[in-house]
Amino acid sequence: MAKITELSESEQRLVEAAAHARSFSYSPYSHFAVGAAVMTSDGEIYSGCNIENQAYSVTNCAERTAIFNAVSEGHDDITLLAVIADTPAPTAPCGACRQVIAEFGIPNIIMANTMGDVKVVTIDELLPAAFGAEDMK
Ligand code: THU
Repeated sequence: MAKITELSESEQRLVEAAAHARSFSYSPYSHFAVGAAVMTSDGEIYSGCNIENQAYSVTNCAERTAIFNAVSEGHDDITLLAVIADTPAPTAPCGACRQVIAEFGIPNIIMANTMGDVKVVTIDELLPAAFGAEDMK
């Protein structure tokens, strides 16, 4: 298993931003805190946490919070996403988040856990044969 120290400096910074965002997780129902952060093409970082709701299905995952945070500030050119939680293996984005990651063409994802394990994957690996704009032509 790769460790966070093997990542580049900017990749490590992104994971740290995700871990910081995780501290703001609003997860009174699952008690499962998740943090995420995205890096834009100009090197800016936007982060987010999971935000749950008493009506459970309205919950927003950390990855989508981070992406929507960047996009809503006018930055939809995202090159990298990091996600972190206290999981035995590096945290994998859920299916809904994979679809949103694909929508914004985010090529690379760093999955991480709080023990310092990381796995770097592509969106093509996470969501092969994704539904996209080509399908609606
Ligand atoms: N969660 C995320 O934030 N990201 C994921 O990719 C998986 C799940 C959140 C949603 C919910 O608040 C909690 O983790 C338990 O599913």
